[in-house]
Amino acid sequence: MTKPMLQDKLGRPLQDLRISVTDRCNFRCTYCMPKEIFGKDFAFMPKDHLLSFEEIERLARIFVDLGVKKIRLTGGEPLLRRNLPELIQKLVMIDGLEDIGLTTNGVLLGKMAEKLKTAGLTRVNVSLDALDDELFQSINDSGISSKRVLESIEQAQAAGLEVKVNMVVKKGMNDQEVIPMAKYFKEKGITLRYIEFMDVGQSNGWDYSKVVTKKQLFEQLNEDFQLEPVDPAYLGEVAKRYRYKGTNSEVGFITSVSESFCSSCTRARVAADGKFYTCLFASGGFDLKEVIRSGATDEELKDTIIPTWKERGDRYSDERTEETAKNRKKIEMSYIGG
Ligand code: GTP
Ligand code: 5AD
Ligand code: SF4
Ligand code: SF4
Repeated sequence: MTKPMLQDKLGRPLQDLRISVTDRCNFRCTYCMPKEIFGKDFAFMPKDHLLSFEEIERLARIFVDLGVKKIRLTGGEPLLRRNLPELIQKLVMIDGLEDIGLTTNGVLLGKMAEKLKTAGLTRVNVSLDALDDELFQSINDSGISSKRVLESIEQAQAAGLEVKVNMVVKKGMNDQEVIPMAKYFKEKGITLRYIEFMDVGQSNGWDYSKVVTKKQLFEQLNEDFQLEPVDPAYLGEVAKRYRYKGTNSEVGFITSVSESFCSSCTRARVAADGKFYTCLFASGGFDLKEVIRSGATDEELKDTIIPTWKERGDRYSDERTEETAKNRKKIEMSYIGG
């Protein structure tokens, strides 16, 4: 018998789960974890607050039972979580789970690629905001060269992982890299996705004047390339993709600011400490770790997740105003995992 589909107040099913496995990162991207705030004294999550792999696996099974088909592991930087391939090995065994992805800054990816692939991972999204080394180092503020990330991408491909690249475009930060990045990744046949700079968290200094919209990016690309639209890979795909005419290379845009996509948002998020969020821009979450550690059964856990999803009416990007962008309390990107 088929199970009834769990839907939120706006009729959106629960299909994707983003699980953050750590709030730590080895970068200090100026638009995400600026050093003034995420400095030496910043209090990251203590180890015993992190969900264990067993707890994550258990939650993942429960979510899959409720309709989730796709899981994405995020951070902070997920490859900083010790023995991550062991978690992937557990997750790939879950019946009904169709896809597992990982979003990483790529620094540790090169040396871990083989292990990740062997564990069962098939694809990775790698963040890279510039090719120019000096600029890239000034953005990540951690002395990591763009060459290192590019090498990791090659090693990941060599290990058999499918790779996509994410580039956050922020006006005055890296807009001069839009075309060089397009040329480089078109040539490599790797999909590059431009992400509009979003007002996530409280500390990234977001302002609408710093956003480069899809329309502006598209106009810039149109001067050098001919693009044709590609159908979404799945209902609710975050990126709008285009193909460079006459090639198999694609480019995408993630337009949370200029063309929101809340109406098809099927994503839930679990932070590394087990808090469950129904929107990237949520002000608060539901503490699943507390429920797990109080000895709840799977059915009791489901009894907390189901009503939370049924009550969900989130559509932050649809409703974004100057006021909400500037003043609403929001969770930091490095904690909620994007
Ligand atoms: P694919 O499965 O490869 O399509 O992954 P993805 O694009 O969903 O995940 P990724 O971690 O690469 O995210 C790319 C960008 O999209 C990041 O900046 C995310 O924060 C953003 N993003 C993902 N999901 C949402 C969402 O539901 N709402 C908003 N506003 N942004 C999102
Ligand atoms: N706006 C848009 N994207 C962001 N990311 C981090 N902070 C922001 C922001 N403020 C990106 C990362 C990574 C993905 C998970 O989210 O660069 O590619
Ligand atoms: Fe940069 Fe991603 Fe780390 Fe944030 S979590 S500092 S965007 S690498
Ligand atoms: Fe989903 Fe919230 Fe993003 Fe809208 S803003 S697409 S509801 S996560």
